[in-house]
Amino acid sequence: MSKYQFQESDIYIPGTDIPKNRLGIDDPILLHEIEETLLQEAYRVFIGELNPSVCFDEHYFKSLHYRVFSALYDWAGEFRSVDICKGGSIFCLARNLVNASKKIFQELEREGFLKNMGSLDNQAFANRVAYYQCELIALHPFYELNGRITRLFFDLIAIYNGYAPIDYSHGLTNDKQGAANVYINASITCVQCADNRLLQELIFKGLSKM
Ligand SMILES: Nc1ncnc2c1ncn2[C@@H]1O[C@H](COP(=O)(O)OP(=O)(O)O)[C@@H](O)[C@H]1O
Ligand SMILES: [Mg+2]
Repeated sequence: MSKYQFQESDIYIPGTDIPKNRLGIDDPILLHEIEETLLQEAYRVFIGELNPSVCFDEHYFKSLHYRVFSALYDWAGEFRSVDICKGGSIFCLARNLVNASKKIFQELEREGFLKNMGSLDNQAFANRVAYYQCELIALHPFYELNGRITRLFFDLIAIYNGYAPIDYSHGLTNDKQGAANVYINASITCVQCADNRLLQELIFKGLSKM
């Protein structure tokens, strides 16, 4: 059982936190490199596909996960069926995922999928992105790769509105010490305190017009 889970899941190679994958890779560094390559290629493809008829809805969000990672993982694009916690945070219970996700995406739809925010100032745009990003961080709907797909999703919304991809380098480090990672701290306050102000600040710092 992975250290992050509190229910059995057979997505990991037994005794490790390395997800079983279609290539049979059990070297975490190599697997991470392949994930990174797939993600970079996905940025190119999805940015190229942006157009006014794109809806940033639940189907689109799930399809990002599927299309980026289905070459590696059977569960790409599928919501998890186990409960997950990380570092004291309990994400949305698996049995509530479908309804909770619907609620978030219905709200996003009522806000026009944040598609026409180009006239807002950066702070107002950052606040709306942080609000929805906080919701999706707390949802944590997939077994793995939630962080990367969630950031990809909001990068695409930012690009749609004339921004560059959001620069999280002020907060997202490869530092494995959770306490030193501002993005993780911002995620923790989202999940544990329903407070997205740290995330607002990070996103605001990371916004620039293209
Ligand atoms: N202790 C925590 N409390 C709340 N959220 C967390 C915690 N640790 C990580 N997260 C959130 O989970 C994300 C990582 O989820 P994961 O599915 O492993 O995605 P990825 O593999 O892309 O990093 C982080 O980006 C962060 O938003
Ligand atoms: Mg992960």
